[in-house]
Amino acid sequence: MRNKVVLAYSGGLDTSVAVHWLKETKGYDVIALSLDVGQADTDFDAISERAIKAGAVDVVVVDAKEEMANDYVRPSLAANALYEGKYPLVSALSRPLIVSHLIKVAKQFSASAIAHGCTGKGNDQVRFEVGAIALDPDIDVIAPVREWNMTREDSIVYAKENNLLIQASKDRIYSIDENLWGRAIECGILEDPWIKPPEDVFSYTGLLGAEDKSQEAREVIIGFEHGVPSSLDGTKMSLLAIINRLNIIAGSCGFGRIDMVESRRVGIKSREVYECPAALALIAAHQDLESFTLERDVLHEKLRLEPRFAELVYDGLWFSPLREALNAFMSATQEYVTGEVKMQFGPGPAGKVIGRRSDKALYDYNLATYDEADSFNHEDAEGFVRVFGLGIATWARRQRKTDNDK
Ligand code: ARG
Repeated sequence: MRNKVVLAYSGGLDTSVAVHWLKETKGYDVIALSLDVGQADTDFDAISERAIKAGAVDVVVVDAKEEMANDYVRPSLAANALYEGKYPLVSALSRPLIVSHLIKVAKQFSASAIAHGCTGKGNDQVRFEVGAIALDPDIDVIAPVREWNMTREDSIVYAKENNLLIQASKDRIYSIDENLWGRAIECGILEDPWIKPPEDVFSYTGLLGAEDKSQEAREVIIGFEHGVPSSLDGTKMSLLAIINRLNIIAGSCGFGRIDMVESRRVGIKSREVYECPAALALIAAHQDLESFTLERDVLHEKLRLEPRFAELVYDGLWFSPLREALNAFMSATQEYVTGEVKMQFGPGPAGKVIGRRSDKALYDYNLATYDEADSFNHEDAEGFVRVFGLGIATWARRQRKTDNDK
């Protein structure tokens, strides 16, 4: 009996060649697994047909959009996760989700291996393989692209020689990875970090394909319950629906672009271009509501732990004890993060928070105001400041260097 392998199949050139290669070179029966994680304009019927044409014995298509939103984006948003302070982990969030389905389908089909189409230079191979180790330490993982030593041109020739259906796409010069949390664009001219990204790399920011072509400012009210986005302009919506809607509203104003040089896990600095309108909008709104509702020490500790959470996810350690422990901390902080945040998008690519309100706010008007409603005891402040500064006063008298000492 032939061994079976479950391949994460995108329908692109590399994974189509991989189906054929795994079958012919490695002697596997290949099951192609394609996930809908919210990538735009994807025809899963065409993808399935391509997999079968390339030699797959079976194709599994899973609509994983709700799962991506609820089980991966939601915890990441609770942690305001931005790698190196900028990147909302678009690809890093979908990889553990894909891995979990690869392992599930491998069990269903009694497959001994899983496979992915990543190269040896990126983070995604790390995420796939460390994720797989975490969920099933005994499964074999095959990375055909890392093994076969073919250039892109070689792969095209291979596909033609073997009559594989390959997608004739205008995107070929760029490597694009997309899901509901954003879109990552690499390669081509973008590899020169000095060159401004050409307008045609973008798909849902700017005025290309935009629903709202006006350059007027637009206001949106985002409601949160326990840290999770729950409504838009007062209408209750699922997290997934809110993300989809905000990608259009904020994206059509041009909000959500990121151009950065990123430090990959494998030691390479790479120029990355992203567009993540909903992700950046929701993180900004969520951070704002936390400033309003979280007690000072909790807020400060959370701000210290957030970059660590982002780093773990980026490094492919979604399934790890530290990520899970940090997750528990983040969840515990969200109990009172309930309220509404008003954002303004445009004119131009700007997007910002312009107001917030919450029944759970720790903001107390009577304490904050300078008007007559002031309930703050000014005499208490005098004593507090004296005690707070006491140690500094002693130091100043005994040790502080003055100009005479220099
Ligand atoms: N640099 C980003 C990351 O590591 C994006 C990766 C995009 N992947 C791709 N196959 N184009 O998360």
